Amino acid sequence: MKILAIESSCDDTAAAVVEDGRKILSSIVASQISDHKKFGGVVPEIASRLHAECIGAVTEAAMRKAALDYDMLDAVAVTFAPGLIGSLLVGVNFAKGISMAASLPLVPVHHLRSHIAANYITHPDLEPPFLALVVSGGHSHLVAVDDYTVFRVLGRTRDDAAGEALDKAARAMGLAYPGGANLDVLAKDGNPHAFSFPHPQVDGSPLDFSFSGLKTAVVNLLHHAQQKGETLDAKDLGASYIWAVTDCLLKNTRTALEQTGFSKLVVAGGVSANSVLRRRLQELCAKNGVELYLPSLNLCGDNAAMVGAQGYYELKKGNIANLSLNATASLSIDYN
Ligand code: KG4
Ligand code: ZN
Repeated sequence: MKILAIESSCDDTAAAVVEDGRKILSSIVASQISDHKKFGGVVPEIASRLHAECIGAVTEAAMRKAALDYDMLDAVAVTFAPGLIGSLLVGVNFAKGISMAASLPLVPVHHLRSHIAANYITHPDLEPPFLALVVSGGHSHLVAVDDYTVFRVLGRTRDDAAGEALDKAARAMGLAYPGGANLDVLAKDGNPHAFSFPHPQVDGSPLDFSFSGLKTAVVNLLHHAQQKGETLDAKDLGASYIWAVTDCLLKNTRTALEQTGFSKLVVAGGVSANSVLRRRLQELCAKNGVELYLPSLNLCGDNAAMVGAQGYYELKKGNIANLSLNATASLSIDYN
């Protein structure tokens, strides 16, 4: 079964053709980073306009690379939630047009479900049930994935997402957008124990995250140093901060594994590219006899191949939309 997939939830315009949910026939991602860089973050209005400008060419390129005509496809899948509403609408409306013109079923795909599904491409043998740690720019979740389309949220962030916490610290340190990835590179040889940071926990909810206190702590450190005319070692500061963020992620993940008894851990979302997180999760899982599944680096960030992977399982489940499908800025992963 061949699915054309479209993704435009944030600042990447992407299209892909995926076979049977596991095999990439083509995958094109047009990044808008250079357009948003000068603003220090994504500007929603600019993002949606750029999506509209290039979604046609990106989709054509994906179809050409897969060497397919539209009548050889079985469905068109599209990210419909959650994300920037203007950006989502571009993809949803474009997919509706293809669905109507080529008489293809229209499959709505939840963005976080698709991040998890990136692992079905990287690991062709992976099947639910498993525990998923979803860490992106907008979300930090611990999710029980009972089946391909059955999700239970076990923990979520009460304030900032892990990616947001990394991006904001990176920005405070003067690094260019996208901060999380740049901080990872900068901190590579830094001392992770040079600075101590709080390890915020949510009282009574051991699986929930809170990162806003960490972010405030790094901003305060930088301000105090500035007032005293001191310069902090950026590598050490970055490494210590990443250590603190990953400490929080690891702690709750360990608790969730203990509570649920899952023997497989799947990691998903842009922050799963972080080198320290990947290494520390490998150590955690090796120590606890848990099988770890990390997405390949090219599938950690936003892309459409992962939408095609999840779209396949949504289609098999009969989750097909009609042309009244709307984009939704905010929707929990366990929606029905
Ligand atoms: O999943 P994603 O591409 O977009 C959302 O759905 O939000 O995630 C983007 C997030 C950003 O916060 C970015 O800084 C972070 O992923 N990120 C990283 C790395 N690469 C991307 N964070 C830490 N280390 C990285 N290597
Ligand atoms: Zn994403």
